[in-house]
Amino acid sequence: MFGFNYYTPTKVVFGKGTEMKAAELIREFGGKKVLIHYGGGSVIRSGLLKKVTDTLDNAGIPYVTLGGAVPNPRLGLVYEGIDLCRKENVDFLLAVGGGSAIDSAKAIGYGVTNEGDVWDFYDYKRQATACLPIGVILTIAATGSEMSDSSVITKEEGLVKRGYSSDYCRPKFAIMNPELTMTLPDYQTACGCADIMMHTMERYFTNGGNMEITDALAEGLLRTVMKNAEILARDPKDYNARAEVMWAGSLAHNGLTGCGNDGGDWMTHKLEHELGGLYDVAHGAGLASIWGSWARYVYRDCLPRFRRFAVEVMGVEPAASDEETALKGIEAMEDFYRRIHMPTNLRELGVRATEEDLAAMAHKCAVGVGGSMGSAKVLYEEDMLAIFRASL
Ligand code: NZQ
Ligand code: ZN
Repeated sequence: MFGFNYYTPTKVVFGKGTEMKAAELIREFGGKKVLIHYGGGSVIRSGLLKKVTDTLDNAGIPYVTLGGAVPNPRLGLVYEGIDLCRKENVDFLLAVGGGSAIDSAKAIGYGVTNEGDVWDFYDYKRQATACLPIGVILTIAATGSEMSDSSVITKEEGLVKRGYSSDYCRPKFAIMNPELTMTLPDYQTACGCADIMMHTMERYFTNGGNMEITDALAEGLLRTVMKNAEILARDPKDYNARAEVMWAGSLAHNGLTGCGNDGGDWMTHKLEHELGGLYDVAHGAGLASIWGSWARYVYRDCLPRFRRFAVEVMGVEPAASDEETALKGIEAMEDFYRRIHMPTNLRELGVRATEEDLAAMAHKCAVGVGGSMGSAKVLYEEDMLAIFRASL
């Protein structure tokens, strides 16, 4: 077991009707002029944006709005947001939407409070020293960005998708009303469940340290998300299932399920970021499509964890050998993906990659992680390429 820092400063306001508290919470955290940042329009169609602007109008809080954060949010809009905030003297960001709107807001927050090009942070050239305060009204349970320290932005030039993490961007508050997620397309609900699970699985498959309490939390979270993802595949309007998944999404990525280990593996995410950058796929689906190939490539180097996952999470009966048990666990996970209509390879993801594409992604990935990365197994460029090939 390793020592750790656990820092979760986000005030969570959870339940029906909580979006009506936006103005009150902005006041509580000192916001005087707000940028409301959102995505491609789902919040307009659902009426949520109007509700939020009404509450701010009633409270006399001035605001400007900026929509257009796309899945795999783009750097160009971040620059636009920074200019707008400076011009309008914005001192508080309210992201209304999913990980893309939240991450775009985080990048805008860095850009407004730090000199120079905000991309430098995502390009690992220097560290941010501040971020504008951010509040969130969450509309999709997935990334955990509502409590996390990270944001992921795609630079249009070269389609480079990169994440940057620092505690400065952790949201001040997160409003979570599970009812707001009921307008999601079923595909996005399932993508969210795949992402939530992966945030905990990345921290679970390690060769460095563990804590019994962390493992128990992680395994409970994974079982809960699987159970409720299947309920939602049948009945998307089930409030309790929506609520379970929504809270799991935050806990899966606020650091809780990594306490006491070496920080996790994270290679499935790094590989997916290449897919997201190049093919613009939904993040959760990209993760599901690559995980099985990654798992089969690394499981022998992390056998105790894969065996434990098979038995404790997937409910597999232990087989004659640990290897066999581990493989059954991987198969059971892929069966679960199929039950919630998630892809288990690139073909099912809708990606037709050439050998050159695979080589380019493996190269970019290796550069992005500084040569090698992983805890279940340390991967180099040739390993990354082998996993991409296996996932075709
Ligand atoms: O853009 P709109 O019109 O809002 O539509 C979105 C989008 O098309 C739609 N949607 C969201 N809530 C809805 C809704 N449609 C109907 N009703 C609702 N209530 O769903 C689509 C996906 O939204 P998006 O915000 O892109 O999804 P998600 O939350 O999965 O975010 C994905 C992005 O976050 C990054 C991913 O790489 C990707 O760029 N990640 C961020 C992390 C973080 N900051 O901690 C960690 C993750 O590992 C991840 O990398
Ligand atoms: Zn993720």
